[in-house]
Amino acid sequence: MKRIFSGVQPTGNLHLGNYLGAIRNWVHLQDEFEDCLFCVVDLHAITVWQEPKDLVANTREVAAAMIAAGIDPKRNVIFNQSQVSAHAELAWIFNCVARLGWLDRMTQFKEKAGKDKERASVGLYAYPNLMAADILAYKATHVPVGEDQKQHLELVRDIAQKFNHDYGQEFFPQVEPLIFGTATRVMSLKDGSSKMSKSDSSDNSRINMTDDIDGIARKIKKAKTDPEPLPSEAQGLDGRPEAANLVGIYAALADTDVEAVLGEFGGQGFGAFKPALADLAVSKLSPVQDEMRRLMDDVAHVDNVLHAGAERANDLAASILEEVQDLVGFLRP
Ligand code: TYM
Repeated sequence: MKRIFSGVQPTGNLHLGNYLGAIRNWVHLQDEFEDCLFCVVDLHAITVWQEPKDLVANTREVAAAMIAAGIDPKRNVIFNQSQVSAHAELAWIFNCVARLGWLDRMTQFKEKAGKDKERASVGLYAYPNLMAADILAYKATHVPVGEDQKQHLELVRDIAQKFNHDYGQEFFPQVEPLIFGTATRVMSLKDGSSKMSKSDSSDNSRINMTDDIDGIARKIKKAKTDPEPLPSEAQGLDGRPEAANLVGIYAALADTDVEAVLGEFGGQGFGAFKPALADLAVSKLSPVQDEMRRLMDDVAHVDNVLHAGAERANDLAASILEEVQDLVGFLRP
């Protein structure tokens, strides 16, 4: 059986990278896979401080973005993680399966904890174990994500393998990461060597899903570039990270590839390319943004989707968790 699981943190500033690298791909996958769960991972969000009021609003915003992007809440399960206790319960078991050495290697922890890792939360350190629980609580087989999640998914495979080995049964599947498209790693508009991120202190570094038309156009106009015209072939983008990023974004938004974009714009400068990119971004993003705004005004509908999703997710996870408890040796009534 094939099953998709993926998630987004409700930490605010949902951006173009989240949309192109993840959410938009999920829209395509719902036609290929019958069984998809898309989760707003609020338990992950609190590994760094979240204002409670903001967390509630951001949870609704991520759910609204999923629905607005075209994920059908009837065919798929959309829910927030904290409402399905199996995630936290299985995560504890995985805390006891994963090894400290494995978590020590996680680059995302090092990036997020920064220099002062003594002050990082224990949750931030154990974050990938909770990710493993998210996926394996449903025995999901395929996980569509952006490039930055690759190392975490390798750890999920290690956890599944060790659990299966320790408890002597091929119980959990080996999950397959699905990392595809031209926007698997959208970079900052201000620095082509760092990822577009929710936590970048410069708002100009990213296009937020809540930015208005003028904001999108202004940020693209201000994006860092180099003085050369665009090359005619992809090889010519080597060593030009900012140019490569903007061309990649264009290709993803236009549903085409980098070669086709360079076929059209090769030889032209950014004076011509940036306005074309801004127009394309606005035309592709505004319908999603309009729908997001409409949904954010209809909080009851979004809450209903999340509530119904949590019920379905609970049903799916409960029997798997019981089997895990039996394997581990927990006495059940
Ligand atoms: P999060 O909330 O950071 O990002 C959500 C999704 O967006 C992708 N993404 C990007 N893709 C391309 N370019 C970027 N600049 C960019 N930034 C983010 C991420 O790869 C991700 O797919 N740990 C996860 C959430 C999570 C999860 C899971 C994912 C929790 N449990 C289980 C899959 C399965 C995260 O922090 O995503």
